[in-house]
Amino acid sequence: MVQLLDKARFPIGMGTWHMGDSPAKWKQEIEALRYGLEHGIEVIDTAEMYGEGNAECLIGEAIQGINREDILLISKFYPNHAAEPDLGHALKQSLKRLGTDYLDMYLLHWRGSIPLQQTISDLEKYVEQGIIRSWGVSNFDMADIQEMWKLEGGKHGAANQVLYNIASRGIEYDLLPLQRSRSLPTIAYSPIAQGDTRGDAVTENPVVQEIAERHGATVFQIMLAWTIRQGDVVSIPQSSNVKHIQENIEAASISFSEEDIRLLDQVFPAPIRKMPLDII
Ligand SMILES: NC(=O)c1ccc[n+]([C@@H]2O[C@H](COP(=O)([O-])OP(=O)(O)OC[C@H]3O[C@@H](n4cnc5c(N)ncnc54)[C@H](OP(=O)(O)O)[C@@H]3O)[C@@H](O)[C@H]2O)c1
Repeated sequence: MVQLLDKARFPIGMGTWHMGDSPAKWKQEIEALRYGLEHGIEVIDTAEMYGEGNAECLIGEAIQGINREDILLISKFYPNHAAEPDLGHALKQSLKRLGTDYLDMYLLHWRGSIPLQQTISDLEKYVEQGIIRSWGVSNFDMADIQEMWKLEGGKHGAANQVLYNIASRGIEYDLLPLQRSRSLPTIAYSPIAQGDTRGDAVTENPVVQEIAERHGATVFQIMLAWTIRQGDVVSIPQSSNVKHIQENIEAASISFSEEDIRLLDQVFPAPIRKMPLDII
């Protein structure tokens, strides 16, 4: 695995958007996260935004009793918290909810109006103090990444988290190659297109269905495996369901033949021109 998460040996993590919001689902969601951690998943992705802290509280409970060094915790801060003193306050609150004294990675959730240099300089202080092991960004397109790299400390950015799935391949045209060329890791969010509810009907596509059948996999597993097919993307599907987490773990073992990839490219083609960064 690339330097994201130098330590990450497993390319699939767990997203947590919309988790922790329903008291009725709390126990099931704790079980789902714990199942993942006990079966090889290391990365958990969250944000102060998710349920305004509910997801972080859920994770805090789920990781109790698990060796902290075995988990790679990523959280994200709002753009309007992207400079001191708000940044430090947001970080402290996230740590408190998560019940930990450090984050493995802290991401700017999306770009706002606070100058990026200010954000980077403030984040670097927390890295020096060991309160965050690394920092990164999210929803940054080419121009943002290029600007970041020109700023003091900007090359320390440790990942860009962006939307990436088989029905949304725009980043393959320019952003992904750029990040690859400079070893900036990519974290793929919404890797299964939010359960394929985005209107792309990937799971209903006969080619995807046929490939799934050939691999003895579900269409969702095929979607997930596709995002990590090149070995240098970490994908963070969200699931509140133990069975789905189990399937997502198994998806890491699917390897596609050249023919599979060719067929998938035919029905969900790679971009041939610059596309605006897909964001949700
Ligand atoms: N940086 C950003 O701006 C940003 C934006 C969006 C998301 N994210 C992060 O990325 C994570 C993932 O993205 P996402 O939540 O938007 O969408 P996603 O992971 O593509 O899809 C989540 C949906 O897929 C279902 N699902 C998961 N595994 C499945 C399986 N094996 N079979 C069938 N259904 C399955 C889940 O339902 P069940 O619970 O029933 O399994 C859930 O409804 C988020 O949770 C969040 O951590 C970041």
